[in-house]
Amino acid sequence: PFVVTENCIKCKYTDCVEVCPVDCFHEGPNFLVIDPDECIDCTLCEPECPINAIYPDDSVPAGQEHYLELNRELSQQWPVITERKDPPADAKEWEGRPGKLDLLER
Ligand code: SF4
Ligand code: F3S
Repeated sequence: PFVVTENCIKCKYTDCVEVCPVDCFHEGPNFLVIDPDECIDCTLCEPECPINAIYPDDSVPAGQEHYLELNRELSQQWPVITERKDPPADAKEWEGRPGKLDLLER
């Protein structure tokens, strides 16, 4: 399955959700995750993210392997999102910043 990684936190552009044929994106307060049991590896979402936060599970950035488990865990708790919405007003400022995991809201 595909995995949403750290760069999405506090950016949450949501372009990814519109293309998913199986509606497996789930939305939290400042991050999105993919349900790994529903994702069919269609690859459509990966190029939609403007900040490259989505990866196949076998090639997530080094040090972000824990996002596999995080996507699994949080997708069971958060509601499905299928329509794009406006990102946070300060999303641009958070693009590519390291250490955003500490800012993840559940
Ligand atoms: Fe949805 Fe396809 Fe992305 Fe999986 S790879 S989350 S099925 S758009
Ligand atoms: Fe996040 Fe990129 Fe989707 S920032 S919400 S993974 S478009």
